Amino acid sequence: MRSILSSAALAALTLAGLAGQPVQAQGELVVYCTVQEEWCRPMMQAFERATGIKVAMTRKSSGETFAQIKAEAANPRGDVWWGGTGDPHLQAAEEGLTLEYRSPRLADLQPWAVRQAEQSKFRTVGIYAGALGYSYNTQQLARRNLPEPKCWADLTRPEYRDEIQVADPNSSGTAYTKVATLVQLLGEDKAFAFLREMHRNVNQYTKSGAAPARAAATGESLIGITFLHDAVTQAVAGAPVKIVSPCEGTGYEIGSMSIIKGAKNLENAKKFYDWALTPEAQAIGAQAKAYQVPSNRNAPVPEQAPKLSEIKLIDYDFAKYGSSAERTRLLARWDAEIRNAPKR
Ligand code: F6P
Repeated sequence: MRSILSSAALAALTLAGLAGQPVQAQGELVVYCTVQEEWCRPMMQAFERATGIKVAMTRKSSGETFAQIKAEAANPRGDVWWGGTGDPHLQAAEEGLTLEYRSPRLADLQPWAVRQAEQSKFRTVGIYAGALGYSYNTQQLARRNLPEPKCWADLTRPEYRDEIQVADPNSSGTAYTKVATLVQLLGEDKAFAFLREMHRNVNQYTKSGAAPARAAATGESLIGITFLHDAVTQAVAGAPVKIVSPCEGTGYEIGSMSIIKGAKNLENAKKFYDWALTPEAQAIGAQAKAYQVPSNRNAPVPEQAPKLSEIKLIDYDFAKYGSSAERTRLLARWDAEIRNAPKR
């Protein structure tokens, strides 16, 4: 009797979600979403409408999601990791945290999205692309009679002391892309010397990569380093910002999607994966004012999306900078040399 009662009580607790585990009945899907909340929500709602599958979604930054999936590897709680920069998705693939899956939709994708899949042995895939850069508040710049920044090199100018905001590369894929971009542009030691100099001008290392675009939009910070599309979202909303593609050239992301190894709702995860690669699903980004370039060749490219062909893009080495050894090493070096460096 005692054991019947306790298992009934446990079942009730589990159903109510009180036992600490998400309810994983059939017809459900747990998605870790790494784009802006404003895009995550309509995306999940549209999938629920299209399939009747109930989605439990949590939003975190790229590095945070990677760390969570790694920490949960023995007992995975998520099914799909949708969005976020490609490097940590590649690292997750290499570390065996994600599953091989070849979507029938692969044939419809841009070459850069397919390359991302091939590079990971089909454990991830490109869903969008976007270039890195920064934006500044034009009103603040004029009011304080400060020079216009145009290049990465300008960001170390003493006039911008405490005027720059950028995310922490441990939590944020955007900020990791910035570190890897500078290493590729300048060579590693020069890049770290540059980051140390720029550190004097940084008022805050945020958790989320897009937050500095909002700070530049409101004038809380003069300059925000982000992906250009995140600054476009602010400009479209009417903020007084100018968007800069740095004169030396810049890196870019291949936003990615992966199925988590041990996914409890594997069939639903595959359904989401295939659906997320359709032109209809990818059109939701622009409706949510997210202006990345979609990976499906038939998806409409938002007219406001920064034109990658007009930006001086470096040949970003995703295989190297998305490798476990390199990402781990560069983040450790950033922690040791930049995070708490004195602001002489
Ligand atoms: O959704 C905006 C966005 O910039 C994506 O393009 C990118 O993949 C993601 O945010 C990165 O976020 P974070 O830097 O917080 O990891």
